[in-house]
Amino acid sequence: QQTLYFSRHGESEFNVIGKIGGNAPLSPRGKKYADSLAKHIHALNLPSLQVWTSTLQRTKATSAGIKAPQLHLPELDEIYSGDCESLTYEELQELFPRELALRDHEKLKYRYPQGESYLDVMKRLIPILSQLETETNVLVVSHQAVLRCILAYFFETPMEEVPYMHVPLHTIIKVTLQGYNYNMETVKMPI
Ligand code: F6P
Repeated sequence: QQTLYFSRHGESEFNVIGKIGGNAPLSPRGKKYADSLAKHIHALNLPSLQVWTSTLQRTKATSAGIKAPQLHLPELDEIYSGDCESLTYEELQELFPRELALRDHEKLKYRYPQGESYLDVMKRLIPILSQLETETNVLVVSHQAVLRCILAYFFETPMEEVPYMHVPLHTIIKVTLQGYNYNMETVKMPI
């Protein structure tokens, strides 16, 4: 039986103030989540556990306490918002109102200026997805947009729905292959 685990990074200092993208460290709550994630995962005693994170410090810090081989993969980095990196949605509305309107209109295809679209993220994830399909006991620690794309792949979510999927912070998502079907269980950590 194949089992994969997914989590967003713990809350970052940018999550606290509502800024997108960037490379902020974890907030105090995010650090608490990193501790409970490590405890939860260790208690499962998974044979040959591997941890795959993005290259950004918030995912690396989230998994740092987990005793397992760790890979840091740029394919798992958050959607790159180009000229809009490190802004809040309010600042975006003020500085780039047209961009925000375009994004609201077609969030899946919308590409940030000098940045990426959800479709671009899906494309860079293809090699990772085909490798994940052959693995078991991998914990992937990544980001909201990337995890939407990965989970959508396993659950065959219609493309248009992907940018709106609910992938909350501080929640461990366990995906198991049962027969030909993937099954999802979520564990919300009390932080
Ligand atoms: O706000 C956290 C975050 O991971 C940002 O870094 C990223 O741009 C955003 O979520 C992606 O979500 P959405 O596509 O809904 O803006």
